Amino acid sequence: MCGIYGIINDKNNQAAQTVLEGLKKLEYRGYDSWGIAVIPENSIEINVDKHIGKIGEAKTNLPSGLIALGHTRWATHGGVTDSNAHPHLDCNKKIAVIHNGIVENYQEIKEELIKKCHQFVSETDTEVIAHQIEEKSKSKKINEAIFETFKLLRGSNAIAVLDFDSKTIIACRNGSPLVVGLGSSQFFLASDVPAFLKETNKVYFLNDGEAVVLSNSGVKLFDLKAEKEKALVSQVLDWKLEDAEKSGYPHFLLKEIYEQLKTIPKTTSINENEIRKLANKINSGYKVVLTGCGTASYCALATKYFFAQQGIDVQAIPSYEFMPFSKFIDKKTLVFAISQSGETADTLIAVKEAKKRGAEVVAVINARGSTLERLADTVLSVGAGPEIAVVSTKAFTSQLSTLYLLTTAVANQYGEGKIKINKLGEVLRDWLNSVLINRLIDTAKNLMDEEHMYLIGKHLNYPATLEFALKIKETSYIHAEPFAAGELKHGVITLIQKGTPCFVLASNDEIKDEVLSSAAEIKARGGLIIGVAPFESSEFDVLIKTPDLDDLTIFANIIVGQLLGYYLGVGRGADPDKPRNLAKSVTVK
Ligand code: M6R
Repeated sequence: MCGIYGIINDKNNQAAQTVLEGLKKLEYRGYDSWGIAVIPENSIEINVDKHIGKIGEAKTNLPSGLIALGHTRWATHGGVTDSNAHPHLDCNKKIAVIHNGIVENYQEIKEELIKKCHQFVSETDTEVIAHQIEEKSKSKKINEAIFETFKLLRGSNAIAVLDFDSKTIIACRNGSPLVVGLGSSQFFLASDVPAFLKETNKVYFLNDGEAVVLSNSGVKLFDLKAEKEKALVSQVLDWKLEDAEKSGYPHFLLKEIYEQLKTIPKTTSINENEIRKLANKINSGYKVVLTGCGTASYCALATKYFFAQQGIDVQAIPSYEFMPFSKFIDKKTLVFAISQSGETADTLIAVKEAKKRGAEVVAVINARGSTLERLADTVLSVGAGPEIAVVSTKAFTSQLSTLYLLTTAVANQYGEGKIKINKLGEVLRDWLNSVLINRLIDTAKNLMDEEHMYLIGKHLNYPATLEFALKIKETSYIHAEPFAAGELKHGVITLIQKGTPCFVLASNDEIKDEVLSSAAEIKARGGLIIGVAPFESSEFDVLIKTPDLDDLTIFANIIVGQLLGYYLGVGRGADPDKPRNLAKSVTVK
């Protein structure tokens, strides 16, 4: 959570404005407030501009300069106010600090600094970092002062410091992501690549315990423990500029929903070796545990059903509920950690625990260079490209498709699995046309003023309802509650009143009649039944027809939820790319 972006040697001498534009690309990481610090030409101190709220189309009047550092905030300590927005300055306005994480011991550090007469102007944990660096820099070089300060901080943190005197940006990482961009004469620091992708795709992802110093002559990498310089070996990403642009779409969310037509089939052309090796391990008796948070946990649950189809019993445990079950993990367990960002704190905690118990960790991830990627023994990189919208769509379907392929490999049917996924891509391309979109827009218009809606699904369509409902909730803020169809008559049917919208997700399978019976029970109580299925039924008041894709029908059923969430959100005036209160990667517990 929180976006960090800094630049050295801005080619137009407008570093603050460049940082502002880059921060707009990172706003998905937090949008409670934003702020920029610049070292202006001919000035005796750092200048800062900060505001609450989303960056949107904001402009800044900060003066010209070659070096600037900025931040978008997802608030933890201290309310959403201008003064709590980052960057935070030391007493002399020579050091500006931005920060991603939580300093668990900030109160004790602050008390000591107050005794030494430091003046605090915010309620944040971050401000103590600026004053602590100031204090230490009285007797030490700035690098040492920053490294020592960083080592004092408890918790998972990344900091970036703009130092007036040395005209450098210095950053340290422990648990929160940081990446350096190496242009021909410009150097960048960010929490995610899209901020500077326009300028360079040559990058270095910092590891925990590393620091970088960006100056006008280049970037130096340090080992924080040894406080020694080490070699920086960069990599060139195959990401393109359009990956971080809306490319004509009104929102990233819509663009990313459509990108699934390519990203789902793409999963058949990557990871084959790793998938085959993992399948062999599973067939040789390794237990499988799948874990993740939010959408990724629904991917885990859907995969459990796919494994069951192949006669293999696996566990799917949300990462934030992992601990009570971790005692069952041993050296012959494969723990699949599913995550778009690879930075979700709860998922990382589960993975560290699994590793302690000797398990082999498989990261099923989308973003590159993440903490999870580094912790894992095997990486299944699902290749969906940068996912900018906070609401996850294409990363989810690529993860599910990758794991589906694994289940086919376990059953010695990997070739058939690939054919099915490629076919899925083709069928989705034909289905996702203007007729469908108009139907979804009409449905969204009819549901726009609803405050509650319910969803039912059975077997594979049960995790699909969980994901469908989350898309509606995140994007439109409508209360959408998913149930296993079988659960209905055990209590929740009391919620149904005349006209209550209820989505029924189904596939053309052996249990569709049971699902339709549940639909009939809702209909008998006056519920409005919206079928999301590849078949017609007299139980449906409205049908959003999905293609008949056997067990892969759930992909289409879920895409209906993504699109409906999008159109409901837009219709209700929400920002589909940046839902309220959320951040893209949840790097705090
Ligand atoms: O980056 P991760 O996949 O680990 O994130 C996990 C969840 O925080 C994430 O899926 C969240 O539920 C999204 N808002 C879903 O749209």
